[in-house]
Amino acid sequence: MTEALLGIDVGTSSCKALLIDGRGRPLASAAADYPLAQPRPGWTEQDPALWVEGARAAVGAALATSPAAVLRVIGIGLSGQMHGLTPLDAAGQVLRPAILWNDQRNAAECAMMTEAAGGAEALLRQTNNRMLVGYTGGKILWMKRHEPDLFRRLRYVLNPKDYLRLVLTGEIATEVSDASGTGLFDVAARTWARPLIEDLDLDPALLPPAFESAAITGRLSAAGARLLGLPAGIPVVGGGGDSVIQTLGSGVIVPGELQTTIGTAGILAAALETPRENPQGRAQIFCNVLPRGWHAMGVSLNAGGSLSWLRQLAGGFTGAVPSFDALLALAESAPPGARGLLFLPYLNGERCPHSDPDARATLLGLTARHDAADVARAVVEGVVHSLRDIHGLLQEAGVSGTIIKASGGGARAALWRQIQADLFGCPVVTTESAADGAALGAALVAGLGLGLWPDAAAIPKPRELTRQEPDARRGAVYRRGQEIYRGLHALLAEPSRQLAEPIFEGAA
Ligand code: XUL
Repeated sequence: MTEALLGIDVGTSSCKALLIDGRGRPLASAAADYPLAQPRPGWTEQDPALWVEGARAAVGAALATSPAAVLRVIGIGLSGQMHGLTPLDAAGQVLRPAILWNDQRNAAECAMMTEAAGGAEALLRQTNNRMLVGYTGGKILWMKRHEPDLFRRLRYVLNPKDYLRLVLTGEIATEVSDASGTGLFDVAARTWARPLIEDLDLDPALLPPAFESAAITGRLSAAGARLLGLPAGIPVVGGGGDSVIQTLGSGVIVPGELQTTIGTAGILAAALETPRENPQGRAQIFCNVLPRGWHAMGVSLNAGGSLSWLRQLAGGFTGAVPSFDALLALAESAPPGARGLLFLPYLNGERCPHSDPDARATLLGLTARHDAADVARAVVEGVVHSLRDIHGLLQEAGVSGTIIKASGGGARAALWRQIQADLFGCPVVTTESAADGAALGAALVAGLGLGLWPDAAAIPKPRELTRQEPDARRGAVYRRGQEIYRGLHALLAEPSRQLAEPIFEGAA
């Protein structure tokens, strides 16, 4: 009988389940998709019941391909989309749909919270981060101001994976990486920023106890066991926020390496040995899932999301939605630089490097000779331009690297990886299960928590699967594009804000 670790990742578009053995090798994986609701411009919500059903379906499908008779699950780790507000009443019932990481409604509340904290510098001293739009803290205040009746009944605020933990174990708990993403956590001290929470007049009891990520926070309850089709009693560790824990899934655990993720979001991340200064709070500097480790990243809100949008758009024109692979093949047929076409992927506002909920996506440089392949290429390249733009910001915070490990669903695309190698001018590699990096990280953290490995250094490193080297000629084209790209947000910010005026919403 093989002992297995189970990682469950509550993503934005699907729940993924991955089983690995004690040497970190994948045994089985499966995913279950679910939709995202956008009830108003800039709002993104999800019914938490979708995550529970997604976990049931994904774990069930993964177990089905590797029969329980030959496999004994000894530990579970949870990962999930960060910053989500799952509001619960005293009985643990969900009060309203969860408000997600890419929701843009709380800019006013973030500004109010910054002021209440004594200004941006004072806030940075307490949390090492700005209160960025989308962070959980600002959403709590939004509920207080806009949904006072529901707010009066609010007793617990959980991130998505921590809601699944409650369903699986009956325990209210979080861990340090996801807690960092609330904007209410003292990242240097790895504990809730109590003085800040009190200054904001929020009840500290709304927030769950925050454990180290590898700590065992509970055990699979009878109900959780029925849901997943596993025996009760299996330990469930803290796990981690997806964007943080997937660095472990790619083996990016020491400074000097970078990780890019192209999922719905686009992420550039690196491991830190200390909770480094965060000049003007432009980067996100969070607790890492490894004890005494920290993490730096910048997150753009639409990476894979941009290609999903293009698929739907193409489907609207032709009546048939093309596959991701078809669009990527089309993009590959156009020349690097898409014959002078640049795409800014701000389809849902932007967080990094520009914290701007009113930012708008732009396709700049169109001429009559551009065709569908150029447009597809510009979208694919625009996503990498935004990752490179974030890199500039992380460099300002002293974070850099000489190799990129690509992860997330976008890591499957050789074109996307090659554009990264060419534009960043360094090798890009993928490692085993990189596309399921968050679920892999969660399973590995479970192994750490169960004592399978004495310390972080002993965690099995994922096997390298592909490696692409930069090409100087293509790199020159992309770097010129990057110079132009970097100036565009400032030029377009004001007209974009004007186009977000309510007059353009729904006049009949
Ligand atoms: C991280 C972030 C996203 C979400 C969704 O700060 O906002 O990466 O976690 O994946």
